[in-house]
This record gives sequence, C-alpha cells and structure tokens, in this order.
Amino acid sequence: GLLNPKMVAKGKKYFGSIADPNTLSNSNVQTILKSDFGAITPENSMKWDATEPSKGSFTFTNADQTVAFATNNGRLIRGHTLVWHSQLPSWVSAISDKDTLTSVIKNHVTTLMSRYKGKIYAWDVVNEIFDDSGNFRNSVFYNVLGESFVDIAFIAARAADPAAKLYINDYNLDGPGAKINSLVALVGRLKSRGVPIDGIGTQAHLILGQVGGVAAQLQVLANTGLDVAITELDIRIPKDVTSAKLAQQQTDYNTVTKACLGVSKCVGITVWGVSDANSWVDSTFPTYDSPLLWDDYFNRKLAYTGVDSALT
Ligand code: G3I
Repeated sequence: GLLNPKMVAKGKKYFGSIADPNTLSNSNVQTILKSDFGAITPENSMKWDATEPSKGSFTFTNADQTVAFATNNGRLIRGHTLVWHSQLPSWVSAISDKDTLTSVIKNHVTTLMSRYKGKIYAWDVVNEIFDDSGNFRNSVFYNVLGESFVDIAFIAARAADPAAKLYINDYNLDGPGAKINSLVALVGRLKSRGVPIDGIGTQAHLILGQVGGVAAQLQVLANTGLDVAITELDIRIPKDVTSAKLAQQQTDYNTVTKACLGVSKCVGITVWGVSDANSWVDSTFPTYDSPLLWDDYFNRKLAYTGVDSALT
C-alpha cells in the first residue's frame, strides 16, 4: 500500500488524486486519500462556473473545503483550472471586445490565485486550448484575443502567486501527431516571448491496451525543458469487464507509472478519481467502465497492484 510515499522515495513529488466536497463526504474516500495520495486536485470546485458564476461575484465554499482538507492533511494541491472553454459561464462566452475580456481573465486569475496564495503547488492556467487537429480550439478566449489570451493568463498568474508552478494542460497528448506538435510549438513561442510557464500537464484519459505511446510522448514534452506531469490518469475498459481485462489494466497502469518514473522531468501522477463508483467515465462513455484503482466498493483492484509494483 501507500503509493505516495513510494512515489516520493523514487524522487517524484507526489502520487495524487482528485477530491471535492461531494466525494469527501464518503469516509472511504477520505481514508484512501490519507493513506495513498500526496496531492489533491479539486475535481470541479475551482472551475469558472463554480467560482465566478456571474461577473465579479465569487463563490468559494466548495473550493475552500477541498483546500482545507488537503492542507489539514499536509497534501499538495494542483489548482484546476483557470482558463477553460468548458464549464464556462455564458456571461464570459458573450464577451466580444478585447479590453473587457482581458480584464475579465486577469481578474479571474488574480482572484483565485490570491485566495489560495502559498497553498497551491501547481495551477493548470490554461486547459484544453487545442483541438485534436492541433488548431486553437474555437473558444471566446481565442476568438476575441487570439493566442495572446495565453500570455495574458500566464503573466497574471505569475504575478498573483509567484511560488506556484504554472501549467498548460491538455488531453490526447499520448501519441505523436498534430496536437502534441502544436502544444510543443506554443511552449517554444511562449518561452521566446518571456511568458512565465513551468510545466506541461498531460491528462492521460486512456483506453485499455492503448498506453504504449505514453513514455515517448512524455519525453517529447520534457524536451521543452519544462516540468511535466500526468494530471488526470484513468484507463477505461470497454464493456463487459472481465478478469482478463482487469489483468490488462494492471499491466497498463504499471506501464504508465513506469513512464513517469523514466522521465526525470516528470514530477508526479494524478489519477482522476479514487473509486470506480465516482468516475466521470460512467456518464461520458457509457460503453466503458472501471477506469480507476479501487472498485465500486472501495476494494483495491489489480490496477492498484500495477501501480504499486512499478513503485516497489
Ligand atoms: O453541480 C451540478 C449539480 O448542481 C447538478 O445537479 C448536476 C446535474 O447534472 O450537475 C452538476 O454538475 C456536474 C459537475 O460535473 C459537478 O458534479 C456536471 O453536470 C458534470 O458535467 C460535471 O462533470 C465534470 C466534467 O469535468 C465537466 O466537464 C466531471 O465531474 C469532471 O470529472 C470532469 O473533469 C474533466 C477535467 O476537468 C478536464 N479534463 C477532462 C476531465 C473529464 O471530463
């Protein structure tokens, strides 16, 4: 047991998971977060719709509770996420002039990061800004401001909490192609413009048996010179779940864990949930199941052994 101490013994910063008041209300979740995880990412409570539902009016009830749980238990926190096209209130999407949107982004970033200043290990400053073809995603941020929205967000973030590591985060970076190429190219442009950025998060929402590219792509991201992290790991199983597929999942989790261990710039792994009972996969991918390390009844799965054996 005790994945996080083993991860730290390997020279990494953390083995993490997610939480929010809705899952922290389950005592099994709390017990496992305390036993095995060294970092917590709030699953939803720091997103724009949860924190600034109307302009300039901030609500922090759930985020505060999650931050309190993490800090009271000595856990690191990954702040998630400041500028994202999804879970974005319609009042933001309706903005059409540059000056207004610029000041709205700055105020949002500054208000969230100032509230938790000194308590956050890393922030996902921008999230999912590319589509799978490697183009900037069609969002209010890109449509109104172009690429400069990224600069605006990172510059405001560094000023608000200079100690926090600032990340760009995205999914489908697990294989070669246009998307990872675009992200790496953007990081190069940001660095050449002097925009402060510290890390790249690869979400790693993976499918059973399709994890072979993770190690090589993690190294591609690390070659930028930035820190890298696996930020939202899960490995979903096509239904029906069989013992053979659960054994394959053990192998896959072992492979992904070793991928981070094998890249010196990889600071840690976050799994996107504790128990299969609480995963986003159930509603989003109804033909898949069982993506995490504990089953619906909070028993450790073979997947847990896959991580544990990589760390031992
Ligand atoms: O809070 C409302 C609640 O008031 C309402 O009664 C209920 C009815 O549907 O919805 C609740 O909101 C849900 C929210 O989670 C909080 O539970 C949303 O419907 C639901 O869509 C939302 O899903 C989250 C999803 O992001 C939204 O995009 C998942 O929990 C969360 O795991 C998922 O996480 C994302 C990362 O942030 C970014 N990367 C992908 C990852 C998986 O989609």
